[in-house]
Amino acid sequence: MKKAKDYLIFPLDVPTYEEAIRYVALLKEHVGIFKIGLELFVSVGPKILNEIRERSEAGIFLDLKFHDIPATVKNAFLAASTYGVTFTTVHCDEGKDLLRSVVDNNPSGTKILAVTVLTSLESKNLKELGYQDRYVNDLTELVILKARMAKEAGCSGVVCSGLEVKKVKAELGKDFIAVTPGIRPEWSIVGKDDQKRIITPDQAIKRGADYIVVGRPIRTAEKPIDAAKRVLGEIEMAISE
Ligand code: C5P
Repeated sequence: MKKAKDYLIFPLDVPTYEEAIRYVALLKEHVGIFKIGLELFVSVGPKILNEIRERSEAGIFLDLKFHDIPATVKNAFLAASTYGVTFTTVHCDEGKDLLRSVVDNNPSGTKILAVTVLTSLESKNLKELGYQDRYVNDLTELVILKARMAKEAGCSGVVCSGLEVKKVKAELGKDFIAVTPGIRPEWSIVGKDDQKRIITPDQAIKRGADYIVVGRPIRTAEKPIDAAKRVLGEIEMAISE
């Protein structure tokens, strides 16, 4: 039975080894998965993965959001797959062939999540990028298009916002994993926010998210442990309903 903390992914969005390890020590009892993204991985390199493993039983999500030509992504992913992490990410934007080339060359069983539409984007950004009106007017439709492509290519799931997660689960099945960033508890204050398609933790879980990514509401809180516990309380309430 999945516990509240198993739903919670904490991104180690910090630039130094010391800070990353400090957050791991602080939050390891309250977090199901630590996410290592570009900032930390580029700053300190792959050794951080073992350092986290030695200090905590949490899973590891290597969120490098690969996006390049298929041959490059395939080989980069093959290198990443030797790290034995739980999840990694590939952008949908180069199409099904790229996703398939990764899925078909995955010796380690790392689960591949496809990034649909970043939660920092909203309709006006899609218009600027030249998307058709039907997607500008209904961003969920674009997320579903990409999620369907990811499923057909054999990905384990997608990253999407809480605003689309219900439809993703309804259309692509409950076993197709949905990871939801852009989580903002009502009590959180993160300053000037780049996240646009946001939702509260309980709403994301109620709508079917398998995991929620909660970064700044915990990291910038005066007491990160208390903030994490508060998020866990909201998850608990949502799963018990
Ligand atoms: O909660 P906060 O906004 O701080 O979370 C930021 C994290 O969410 C970053 O690690 C970023 O990579 C991740 N994210 C993501 N997919 C998106 C948007 C953000 O994984 N679509």
